[in-house]
Amino acid sequence: MSANVLLVEHPAPHVVLLRINRPEALNALNAEVREAINTTLPRLDADPEVRCVVLAGSEKSFAAGADIKERAGMSAVDVMKMSTTRGIAVFSKPIIAAVNGFALGGGCEYALQCDIVVANDRARFGQPEIKLGLVPGAGGTQRLPRVVGKHNAMYMVLTGNMVSAQDALRMGLVCEVVEGNCDARAIELAAQIAAMAPLTARLIKEAVNSGADMALDAALRLETRAHQLAFATEDVREGIAAFIEKRQARFGGN
Ligand code: HXC
Repeated sequence: MSANVLLVEHPAPHVVLLRINRPEALNALNAEVREAINTTLPRLDADPEVRCVVLAGSEKSFAAGADIKERAGMSAVDVMKMSTTRGIAVFSKPIIAAVNGFALGGGCEYALQCDIVVANDRARFGQPEIKLGLVPGAGGTQRLPRVVGKHNAMYMVLTGNMVSAQDALRMGLVCEVVEGNCDARAIELAAQIAAMAPLTARLIKEAVNSGADMALDAALRLETRAHQLAFATEDVREGIAAFIEKRQARFGGN
């Protein structure tokens, strides 16, 4: 496996930027890219130095979806044997998608698996699988309606039409739209999150994600436990002391 399809950059303290790097194919997600993401993210999850990750693509495309040429001629059994990208959805630390250009099919679904999505003004989001006779396979029929609502999601998955960055912002699929290139803004947000207490950030992420699939009563109990557990960290002492002493907190991750 070549490491070049996924570049690993260190743009700020405790921040890792993963850059999908197949610009000649608009970053289509072939087996090599999926495998690289699947093996890199668990390593970053286990590294206490890493507190926040940015997933980015190249200038023209975040990712144009599954590699259609790779899938041509595949049987249902071949597809069943294929590895799916579980790495993003199960990553325990905050992960930000920086979407420049196309986020289509699996690319849109990768963005949906991230925690925060920033986009540039030329970004285009879409689930064009139906145009190929395909059903989305990485959350397009499930995560997308939970984020943008049923009718916006149905519009995207049934027509295959792309939506602009501004429309994605209006739908809640994107948090911020940046003119030009959004990588710097994603890194800035990641650095801001990386300066927070990392164990607390993980507890918050878990409460939001797990709670979304629970009844409200159980979800609120999960939140209460996470709130209480955070009090066991040294970082809570530091955060409270820093407030009282009117200084910047220095969170050590303990
Ligand atoms: C393989 C792709 C590709 C893809 C683009 N390319 N998308 N190759 N798989 N998904 C290649 C093109 O073949 C071309 O290679 C080069 O990238 C540049 O693309 P162009 O089409 O020439 O660029 P442009 O005219 O600007 O059009 C951009 C585009 C179009 C609108 C994004 O490329 C497009 O519609 N792509 C397919 C998008 C798509 O349907 N994605 C969903 C895939 S299904 P050459 O060699 O000809 O120069 C999916 C299922 C997910 O994602 C399942 C779960 C993982």
